[in-house]
Amino acid sequence: MIIKELKGLANGANIINLYGWVDNVRDHGGLTFIDLRDFDSSIQLIFDKESKITKTVKNEFYIMVSGVFNQRDKNLINKKTLFGDVEILIESLTIINESKTLPFQIEDGIDTDESIRLKYRYLDLRRNEMKQNIIARSNTFKSIRNIMNQLDILEIDTPTLIKSTPEGAKDFLVPSRKSPGSFYALPQSPQMYKQLFMMSGFPNYYQIAKCYRDEDSRKDRQPEFTQLDLEFSNGSPDLVKENIEIIVQHIFKEAFDLKIPIPFKTITYNESMTLYGTDKPDLRIKETISDITDVFAQTEIKFIKEIIEDSGKVLSLFTQKSLSRKEIDLLDEKIKNLGSNGLGWFKVTDNEISGPLAKILLPNEKQELIAFGDGLIVFQAGNLYEVGKYMDILRQEIFKDRVEDSTSFLWVDDFPYFEIENGSLQPSHHPFTAPKDTDIFKNNPNESKALHYDLVLNGVELGSGSQRINDPQVQKLVLEKWGLTEEDIGERFGWFIEALSYGTPQHAGFAIGIDRLVAEILKQPSIRDVIPFPKTQSGMDPLTEAPSLINESDLAEYNLRYIEDEQ
Ligand code: AMO
Repeated sequence: MIIKELKGLANGANIINLYGWVDNVRDHGGLTFIDLRDFDSSIQLIFDKESKITKTVKNEFYIMVSGVFNQRDKNLINKKTLFGDVEILIESLTIINESKTLPFQIEDGIDTDESIRLKYRYLDLRRNEMKQNIIARSNTFKSIRNIMNQLDILEIDTPTLIKSTPEGAKDFLVPSRKSPGSFYALPQSPQMYKQLFMMSGFPNYYQIAKCYRDEDSRKDRQPEFTQLDLEFSNGSPDLVKENIEIIVQHIFKEAFDLKIPIPFKTITYNESMTLYGTDKPDLRIKETISDITDVFAQTEIKFIKEIIEDSGKVLSLFTQKSLSRKEIDLLDEKIKNLGSNGLGWFKVTDNEISGPLAKILLPNEKQELIAFGDGLIVFQAGNLYEVGKYMDILRQEIFKDRVEDSTSFLWVDDFPYFEIENGSLQPSHHPFTAPKDTDIFKNNPNESKALHYDLVLNGVELGSGSQRINDPQVQKLVLEKWGLTEEDIGERFGWFIEALSYGTPQHAGFAIGIDRLVAEILKQPSIRDVIPFPKTQSGMDPLTEAPSLINESDLAEYNLRYIEDEQ
């Protein structure tokens, strides 16, 4: 390494031998300069007129050079690099390996299409900004292991060829050759196994775990991702939260040299939905949603009247900023794309109110809206939990220039046990979460709360956890209320309910998305930027072209075959 060699020089070595990649070649009046780059630094090499070899050396050739150290003239020092004050006068150069013409330059800030960068990810990772992301990821792993050792938490691994673990996504399936027609699932998380450790008598557990979920990729979602997964025997939500705060604070300090205050603030799910329209609010924006339903108690605006009669709300955000018509139209378009019927708005200027609905406002409505002061009132009318997502986007868009450069952690708890997803009841966490009150759950599961808590960082759901069910009867009840038949319960979860039936301690745990954590701290636009080999939006790996077709004879070994598409 360049650093090591230069240290050797300080100890009296004369000739230094360096290995590295040719970062660039420059010709200056007969003298040739090469910047030689290795993993952690670069240095300027100088070749004199006679040296012929440099003519054939191109970017990204891997070379070995021998030369003597030279202190640069004061006015030639390059302050931007670590060894900008020195250079090496080269005596010999060996090409270890040539490089083909590059698909993109090995430099920061390139605008190459991401699919090309992923196809040549090994070259992309040579670029400094990507390398720094991966180093930060590695430092995160290191700091996790350090704090886990300090806290005496056991690192234990769990299998990845398993029976399905429901976490709300579809499973990736692996066909079994030995049991033709049968499939393993890849774990959506180690959830059930970490609970088994508690049943086995271990006091605690952690794992840096790979999880697999066959769901659409987004900027914060990958089909394959990494969790810091934890579980504590005799655990309660408070015990887990205290530990997570210590762990997160340690990672920030050790891996990123950032100080964060603990304990984190907690709000309930209902508070969060009411004030921010989302269960993962970005508290770096101070503005909150106001409920202005009362203003419209006597309204003649037909759709608002109907919504209020149907127990709906009118939710608003107010900004003193004067948005142009074009900016308002853009907001309208954004929320329409998400399913809203459109943006409602009123503009107040010098005690005058304007906007598409201004003419049909009653005098008292006008008065109350004008009382907000000069600025723009945007609103959405409907069910709080349905229009919340539009209010959340509006809040983020309107106030995006107010986002402070700070770190905002927040616990959200008191979630409803079930939520409705595509018309069916789904646990808002997973079905191993303990209901807050079993009697209420028994009689009215839709109204029941869960002992579930989320950790939110700057508007991103960083992690999630819960106290678990440790009573086999309650576990069965939850699966029943979820809508599973007796047969389904027996077939899918019989083994787990059996395992709960031998003196299971109370236990609780948590999982942090490591990719999201690193991406958020490094302010990266997507978790793909902090994962060494991520998949594209469509779940492909452009480098290896996985997933790929399997030839028929290999498939036959699994007792599988392709069938004609019937459509
Ligand atoms: P959950 O499903 O909420 O909980 O996941 C925990 C955290 O993992 C991260 N995460 C993801 N990151 C990238 N891509 C994905 N597709 C993805 N899905 C989830 C998020 C999320 O907050 N077993 C429970 C935890 C527990 O109860 O202990 C679980 O997996 O940061």
